[in-house]
Amino acid sequence: MAHSPFEGAWLQGRKALVTGASQRIGRALSLALARAGADVALHYRTDEAGARETAAYISDMERRAPVLQADLGDVEACEGLASAAHDALGGLDILINNAAIFERTPLETLTVHDFDRHTQINARSVYALTLAAGRRMKAEGGGDVVNLVCISAWKPYPDYVPYNASKAAVANLTRSFAKVLAPDVRVNGIAPGPILPAASEAPGQGEQAVADTLLKRWGTPEDIAGACLFFLRARYVTGYTLAVDGGRSIA
Ligand SMILES: NC(=O)c1ccc[n+]([C@@H]2O[C@H](COP(=O)([O-])OP(=O)(O)OC[C@H]3O[C@@H](n4cnc5c(N)ncnc54)[C@H](OP(=O)(O)O)[C@@H]3O)[C@@H](O)[C@H]2O)c1
Repeated sequence: MAHSPFEGAWLQGRKALVTGASQRIGRALSLALARAGADVALHYRTDEAGARETAAYISDMERRAPVLQADLGDVEACEGLASAAHDALGGLDILINNAAIFERTPLETLTVHDFDRHTQINARSVYALTLAAGRRMKAEGGGDVVNLVCISAWKPYPDYVPYNASKAAVANLTRSFAKVLAPDVRVNGIAPGPILPAASEAPGQGEQAVADTLLKRWGTPEDIAGACLFFLRARYVTGYTLAVDGGRSIA
């Protein structure tokens, strides 16, 4: 795995919660935070084994990595997760809202339920977690929130209307919470382009997404982790969502 662009334990003493930390981008984010010195509470929904594997890598770095289960489609579970992470680490000053679903929902079979499901898991969870954790951060001296958005918030994918709309909500929550939680808590977003193929994709969809980038290749989870570290370092940036998409959004 690539090294952090910032060397040394510059996040030492910081306490983070990463949602969806079992695998893929969530794991890369968690490892990057730990490598920079943070303790990291690792959330999962179903993949406990993956979360424990992420935790083992972090324990090897001599950082704490409690593993916490929650279904983020449930508001009370979101609020409970923020409290559990705070209790497990003795505080919480970094929240990374990474967990999401990405389900193919073509027009022919699209239902209101698809919209509700994506909105609840992808956007309402960000709202509930940011509210619960952000209020505490504000009361306890400050913190950082980084949201995983998607370029489909502005450049919608066909066959993914509920997902696109849920990510547009996350983009707005990034700006809205940046306003209400300022000046103590900064809230920023990362909008990935094609990083890892998803199970719900139609054949050839990922390859087409890569062909639509300017850089003509997949990004990596470490590219996303690098952007997250940038936001944690960039103390005069808030309310901004950065496209890490190989130029796809302007292609
Ligand atoms: N992959 C890409 O190329 C790409 C592109 C654009 C945007 N993004 C965004 O980047 C983020 C990470 O992407 P990814 O592809 O690494 O994600 P992913 O693997 O599809 O999902 C991340 C995690 O979300 C968790 N999750 C799903 N439903 C949940 C629920 N109801 N409650 C709690 N957790 C739930 C799952 O946890 P369990 O496994 O434990 O069930 C899963 O491991 C997402 O927000 C995604 O929308 C990714």
